[in-house]
Amino acid sequence: MKILVIHGPNLNMLGRREPDVYGTSSFDDMNEHIKNFASETGIEVEIFQSNSEGGIVDAIQRAVDTVDGILINPGAYTHYSYAIRDALKGSGLPVVEVHLSNIYAREEFRSKSVTAPVADGQISGFGVESYLLGLRALSSLISKRRHGNV
Ligand code: DQA
Repeated sequence: MKILVIHGPNLNMLGRREPDVYGTSSFDDMNEHIKNFASETGIEVEIFQSNSEGGIVDAIQRAVDTVDGILINPGAYTHYSYAIRDALKGSGLPVVEVHLSNIYAREEFRSKSVTAPVADGQISGFGVESYLLGLRALSSLISKRRHGNV
């Protein structure tokens, strides 16, 4: 099973960006956690990061025939990108949205996700653990769909 992990804008600055909100672990540390967890659970992951909306849309379109599901943290695009929403919906792939911070406990504008309604679910507020929980949920959803259980 192959999962594409997409990190949106500014997530490459982890560790240096608002450490009080996002923690002090670097982007590379986070990806190491993701890769270790994936290999322990028998999931193949491809990790992609872009600061641009078009780059993320292109990655989703490329994923259609090459992966079994998408785990995405759209960053600030979460709150206003209909292009990313449409690309996710159009992919027809299982999708889980994740956030490091609890987007419902911050500024008002963050409590609206335009992408979550086209995802199968969302996990928010657990730091890098959100990604690991998301991978677990997504892989179990993909397996269930394969066996016709969902
Ligand atoms: C974020 C939350 C977004 O509101 C913010 O713009 C981000 C990171 C998170 O992971 O908590 O860039 O997606």
